[in-house]
Amino acid sequence: MPEAAHSNQFTSPSTTGIAGNAAAGDNAPAGLGAPASPDATAGAASAEQPAPYGGPVSAPAAPPRRIRTLDLIKAKAEGRRWAMLTSYDQYTAALFEQAGVEALLIGDSAANNVYGHTTTLPVTVDELIPLARAVASATSRALIVADLPFGSYEISDEQAVATAVRFMKEAGVHAVKLEGGARMASRIKAITTAGIPVMAHIGFTPQAEHNLGGYKVQGRGDAGSALLDDARAVAEAGAFSVVMEMVPSGLAGQVTSELTIPTVGIGAGADCDAQVLVWQDMAGLRTGKAPRFVKRYADLHSVLTEAVGTYVDEVKSGVFPEPERSFD
Ligand code: KIV
Repeated sequence: MPEAAHSNQFTSPSTTGIAGNAAAGDNAPAGLGAPASPDATAGAASAEQPAPYGGPVSAPAAPPRRIRTLDLIKAKAEGRRWAMLTSYDQYTAALFEQAGVEALLIGDSAANNVYGHTTTLPVTVDELIPLARAVASATSRALIVADLPFGSYEISDEQAVATAVRFMKEAGVHAVKLEGGARMASRIKAITTAGIPVMAHIGFTPQAEHNLGGYKVQGRGDAGSALLDDARAVAEAGAFSVVMEMVPSGLAGQVTSELTIPTVGIGAGADCDAQVLVWQDMAGLRTGKAPRFVKRYADLHSVLTEAVGTYVDEVKSGVFPEPERSFD
């Protein structure tokens, strides 16, 4: 494992973990359909064989394989938690995977965090697909999930399947996410029937913020039973996991213990099987008052402001570029 990488139950090459590795854990026919390696095409005389008498136990293992939805479900069954973050570009995707994040979400929060809108509503499929393609291409282990943006799945099951298919074919993601509980059961069923894994999203659903009357905790008091019904409905419809956003911790814990699919909390307390945050929030790139559920693990805003300020000063004073950064 590269030194900077955090050890991770799913992806560590030194153990078969949950995802295992290509040699030990994956039943997929390795190499089938993959580009032929030079060895495979070079002919018997030059093809290198495995070392005949074994080798040091520290010899590099086969690369770990991609985490699958079933790995995440198994993790829940075995009481292991996992982490998800948003990502919208190649650098963060590769870095987050290296740091041990098991699932990456190309959230429709790209509307706010990439395109500068005030809500998630304006972002389109055509705007999200290139971001999703960058994230999928930059990773080899994390499960990549793309949000279906507002307006791309509400009209009919057929519309939902067509949009999900675009994300799978054009972006190369491994699953899609959509917002809504029982009301979206037929969409979830239609998409999973087409062979595409679905992550559901219940509780506070930002695409419906106008209908919900603003950013409010969902499922308090009498509304708790409707939220439980939503959770049961999405699981029954075939979702492989469910995000719960701004849900009281006790209720989220109840849902988590009732469902066999993993719950992913964002403002839903510590009892969920996994957690998700928007990366610009958790890394402190976004400033200002953050939602209560956000924890800032770094202050990227200050780091970048200082770096850029120094660059500007050095350009103006002529310090940059130095002779060693110039050509004769
Ligand atoms: O769009 C998004 O980023 C999300 C998560 C934060 C759950 O839906």
